[in-house]
Amino acid sequence: MAQSHHHHHNHGEHPQDHQMASVLDLDAAVAGGYIDDAIDLIRDALPREPKIVVDIGSGTGTGTDRLAARFDAAEIIAVDHSPELAELLTERAAAAGYADRLRTVLANLDDGWPAEVSNPEVSNPDVVWASSSLHHIADPDRFLAAARTALTDDGILAVIELAGAPKFLPDDPGVGLSGLEGRCQSAMSVNGWNSFPDWTTHLQSAGFDVVAHRRIRVEPDPLPPQTVEYAVQWYSRLRVGLAEVLDADDLAALDVLLSDDSPLAFHRRGDLTFRAGRIVWIARPATERNLS
Ligand SMILES: C[S@@+](CC[C@H](N)C(=O)[O-])C[C@H]1O[C@@H](n2cnc3c(N)ncnc32)[C@H](O)[C@@H]1O
Repeated sequence: MAQSHHHHHNHGEHPQDHQMASVLDLDAAVAGGYIDDAIDLIRDALPREPKIVVDIGSGTGTGTDRLAARFDAAEIIAVDHSPELAELLTERAAAAGYADRLRTVLANLDDGWPAEVSNPEVSNPDVVWASSSLHHIADPDRFLAAARTALTDDGILAVIELAGAPKFLPDDPGVGLSGLEGRCQSAMSVNGWNSFPDWTTHLQSAGFDVVAHRRIRVEPDPLPPQTVEYAVQWYSRLRVGLAEVLDADDLAALDVLLSDDSPLAFHRRGDLTFRAGRIVWIARPATERNLS
């Protein structure tokens, strides 16, 4: 979404959060189409309007925004441990007109289910949404069990993860060796990036029935204008993170792709694409009948 209104934050004291915020927003602009697909799956599984929707690890509000739009009568509770991201989200909600329905909760999810979310004055959450966040939590099984307890009996938990790294280039990028993006993805995986198990058995152990399990392809057509900037930011970060891991040939190829002057650079070449995916689990508390 619009990066411009975030500029005045760039003098703050959490540089990683700034960087992550801009990559999250670029991802939303280019790849955000999966969110409505996932919300459709929730709607299919929840035969009523939710009153309370919780966004776990809300970041800059990529999912929060769409959840608020699609569940337009619900109270939205956004949980994150970053005060800066919570502030961005508050501004975003004000701009989008749902600030009066949004509650941001600053909590470290490693410490368990946040007490502020389960307000005994109101009912339990009807929807819990955890997009690219469950694998960050130190003890995801404990978290899932707590989510199971917190949810209404017919409530829905949606767990979403990236199906690998986004791909921008043809297999032979015309610089260095072909298969560059595949090797970058492998190197990132070796470094532990985006590592998560098949959540199905974890969900079942925590007392959930998995009612849908989908892979959503994200291949926007036409290509959003932010795709070039996303490629530059993605590979700039990756170039730093993998400087000790990638071969010299691949690092040199990345330098050409990220350069200003080469016709093969991301911002000058005309053959970029965008291919990504998400994996979605839709789960609801198992009934006693199913447990026995
Ligand atoms: C990859 S981002 C995903 C953001 C958003 N859900 C999305 O799909 O764009 C992960 C988010 O989880 C938050 N997070 C990670 N570990 C956390 C923890 N232990 N407690 C609270 N929030 C956490 C981060 O601050 C970040 O905003």
